[in-house]
Amino acid sequence: MSVFAGLRCAMCKTEFPAEALYVCDRCLGPLEACYDYDAARWTMTRETIADRPRNLWRFRELLPITGDPLTGLDSGYTPLVRAGRLAEALGVEELYIKDDSVNHPTLSYKDRVVPVAATRAIELGFETFGCASTGNLGNSVAAHAARLGLTCYVFIPKSLEPGKIVGSAVSGPHVVGIDGTYDDVNRLCTQVGDRYGWAFANINLRSYYAEGAKTYGFEIVEQLGWRFPRHVVSPVAGGTLLPRIGRAFRELRDIGLASGELPRIHAAQAAGCAPVINALESGATHPEPVKPDTVAKSIAIGNPADGYQVLATVRASGGSGARATDPEILDAIELLARTEGIFTEPAGGTTLAATINLLKAGAIPKNESIVVCITGNGYKTSNVMADRLAQPTQLGRSLREFEAFLADRAEQPANV
Ligand SMILES: Cc1ncc(COP(=O)(O)O)c(C=O)c1O
Ligand SMILES: [Zn+2]
Repeated sequence: MSVFAGLRCAMCKTEFPAEALYVCDRCLGPLEACYDYDAARWTMTRETIADRPRNLWRFRELLPITGDPLTGLDSGYTPLVRAGRLAEALGVEELYIKDDSVNHPTLSYKDRVVPVAATRAIELGFETFGCASTGNLGNSVAAHAARLGLTCYVFIPKSLEPGKIVGSAVSGPHVVGIDGTYDDVNRLCTQVGDRYGWAFANINLRSYYAEGAKTYGFEIVEQLGWRFPRHVVSPVAGGTLLPRIGRAFRELRDIGLASGELPRIHAAQAAGCAPVINALESGATHPEPVKPDTVAKSIAIGNPADGYQVLATVRASGGSGARATDPEILDAIELLARTEGIFTEPAGGTTLAATINLLKAGAIPKNESIVVCITGNGYKTSNVMADRLAQPTQLGRSLREFEAFLADRAEQPANV
């Protein structure tokens, strides 16, 4: 059951039909899904939700589809890990990792937004489903299109990590590598969608796609026992996730599923691509586009589509933002793996490194609860860590050789 009530301009509030529309033709504002919250109160209680399958559709009243979900039935409901060893390393009291590095089936938060866009694409009669991607979105679009038997086009900057390219190609879409940045790819896809009448998850279906990201926020609150954390640190690329985490918190409060002070939401970006952090510092309401240059390729978006909403959400929540340099990003990937055993990609390294910088700056007090958004998996980008880590010890097959190795180690100073 959905209480989805159509699209509305976030700026001038004009209402639009629930079609493949994403921008207001009166004021150019973004279109947002709206809902009948009074109806949602009746069917969404803590008890009814607890009885539902553990996937992203357990919050389906607040997702913009009109029929039954068609994919994503195993996506979402990822672990909220209490990170005790990492907390100790950082000197903080209450720290959680919301771990979408293990989201089904393509190991990133994109497996929340794509099922919503793909279901809506079919409801609207599209047969070709595509995206402009920095890697993870392409992986997810290709996988869900394969499950649904849709023709699929994944457009990417051609310089992506090999693991990300293979991760799309394996599901059989047309992968198109463009000689340019993500922002060039996005511009081209906008034209292709218009000309050929194809559904692009993050362009002409953006109003639907973005709503799937709310489930990340809904789950944080449910998994904390219907309690808000004090701080959430979210990575920002195109700006889908961060404002929808904020919207999810407001919706849960408005329909009475959680109460209390709303969390402060902080933005994390790589120093080599930080248009949102620049704008937070300068006071601008819209980010000034930048040309990305960072190891964190999945969040290298110089002109974020939802930059305005990111800035408005961070400011309204009393949050802030921080950059992370490439060495800080790689150090943070290692720290997370060495304390919690979670292997994230550079987007996750950015979020953890930015959290550390926010703690150092005093923007997050050490005695308040913190959720760090880990949104992608390190196995896809293992190339970035390869030359930082020790090679395996090479030995023959005999116990004697192993004992010689151990004796040799015992003679060496500690830490070697
Ligand atoms: C792993 C990962 N995390 C976070 C993001 C952030 O994206 P956005 O700000 O568009 O929600 C992306 C985007 O591609 C991503 O791949
Ligand atoms: Zn408008």
